[in-house]
Amino acid sequence: MGRKKLAAGNWKMNGVKASLGEIEALVSAFTAPPNCDVLICPPATLVSAMVAVSRGISIGGQDCHANASGAHTGDISAEQLADAGASAVIVGHSERRADHGESDAEVAAKAEAAWRAGLTAVICVGETEAERDAGEALSIVGGQMAGSIPAGATGANTVLAYEPVWAIGTGKVPTLEDIAEMHDYMRAELAKSHPAEAQNIRFLYGGSVKPTNAAEIFAVSNVDGALVGGASLKAADFGGIIKAASEA
Ligand code: 13P
Repeated sequence: MGRKKLAAGNWKMNGVKASLGEIEALVSAFTAPPNCDVLICPPATLVSAMVAVSRGISIGGQDCHANASGAHTGDISAEQLADAGASAVIVGHSERRADHGESDAEVAAKAEAAWRAGLTAVICVGETEAERDAGEALSIVGGQMAGSIPAGATGANTVLAYEPVWAIGTGKVPTLEDIAEMHDYMRAELAKSHPAEAQNIRFLYGGSVKPTNAAEIFAVSNVDGALVGGASLKAADFGGIIKAASEA
């Protein structure tokens, strides 16, 4: 049983209506559907407009509140993302954990909110540079997994993204051996916590993925795709990553 590769883009706080042209260029560059799943997570302001032009590409949010509605100014619920046409949502990105102090427990609650609304939760974990230098990368990620992945996670409702904080937006990428060590460890940990679904849940690597390094990363053990920031903003770059995922 194989896990289909997933090329996922996280636009972060980038993009305005004029940026929809990149999606139109991306979809028109593929004459046949790629042999992988494709997800783009634009800012919430663009979700419904992007759904309208996305033709087979799944669209997701970048965060959601744990509640379905209520007095939470500025927040967006998973139900609202679903209503806008999203099919997934990123939860627990390191930028949310750092900028908004999100705890593992809050991330887990957001993942459950995603499922409640029928969305796939893309749950993010990853160590800082200081933690890696201290030899703690595996234990930090293991702890984040234990706290952030609710019991109900399945291959259908959850994707796990390993994004070392020090590799995000820096051009620094772990060695392929280090990625393999982490992803193999994550699979083993998931086999303990979620024995029935551990082989079904896809693992994305994220952090400075480019068209030039995507193929070698996709060939690594237990890497089922990528979560891409900067290189997802341009159709030519993200198209190269989708092609690499298709051919992996
Ligand atoms: P970059 O690809 O820009 O390093 O960002 C990775 C990321 O944080 C995706 O969520």
